[in-house]
Amino acid sequence: MNLDLIAIPIIHVLKHKHLFEGIEAHILVNEKYIKLNYADDSYQEALEKLAEKSVVHIYIATNDFNNVMMQLQSRMANNKFYDPLTTEELRASTCSSVHELSKAYISRLGVTPEVLDLMKDANQKMQKILDQSPGIFAFVKRFKANCSEEYLKISVTNFVITLTLNKFQWKSHLIIQKSMMASLLCDITMNAKSFDALYHYEREGGELNEDVYRHPILASEILNRKRDLIPTETITIIEQHHERPDGKGFPNGITTTRFNQLSAVFIVCQRFVDLLFQNEFDHKQHHEMIKELQTIYHGGHFDKAMDALITVVESAE
Ligand SMILES: [Fe+2]
Repeated sequence: MNLDLIAIPIIHVLKHKHLFEGIEAHILVNEKYIKLNYADDSYQEALEKLAEKSVVHIYIATNDFNNVMMQLQSRMANNKFYDPLTTEELRASTCSSVHELSKAYISRLGVTPEVLDLMKDANQKMQKILDQSPGIFAFVKRFKANCSEEYLKISVTNFVITLTLNKFQWKSHLIIQKSMMASLLCDITMNAKSFDALYHYEREGGELNEDVYRHPILASEILNRKRDLIPTETITIIEQHHERPDGKGFPNGITTTRFNQLSAVFIVCQRFVDLLFQNEFDHKQHHEMIKELQTIYHGGHFDKAMDALITVVESAE
């Protein structure tokens, strides 16, 4: 494997083609990198043809990727981001791309303060957009075409986590920030294919492949290399985000007493948002969703976490 090349989802390259225009791109065929040639097709046409053939990633050099990240950084600057000519859709789309490209960057090159700040800034701006939306469903519907489903889920999860943590007396801005960071980073090694495998496993059961099964640990290993940038609470949440109090979660199958209050809140909020998306935000299903969660997430800190979440859900009805 050539370590200087980084995989970027074609879908993001096409969405922000001006950021990537002219950059030397490769595709991986039979474990060999082949340079794309634009003699016959334009950059966009060449990529569209690849996407049609179900090619998911192109590979670009680290230096080129750094340049793309710097351009995104300048696009996120408040004066450009909030320029009156920039539509809300474009803002949401920029935040989603910042997230996807930062994920690709971190999973390959590790965390840097700049990339982490960029991710957090996009999250903050997206939370503001969500806060000003008439409701969660209206927000998801409006930006569906501009953001990846994963990013919309993260944004809604962070919104619900904030509301739920606010129900606790010990809440603080810092604690909310640490939880939101866990949501941004917990699936850093996952891609569209691995999310599909995970959804299938959650609905139908069966076997989960090793990379998906271990993704909380893989993410924690990457982040642990830069412990000064990632708080311990964030790492703990990431390692536990698919665990269950009955020991049937993964990857470690831990049980009730091992969870702290912050992890318990994070987990019930993230699972609730999964159910919201699964049920297409049907208000009438809220009661069933809560009941479903309560059958799994009870005991220890989960009782208080569920109580807080229920208060949030009921006040939204
Ligand atoms: Fe996950």
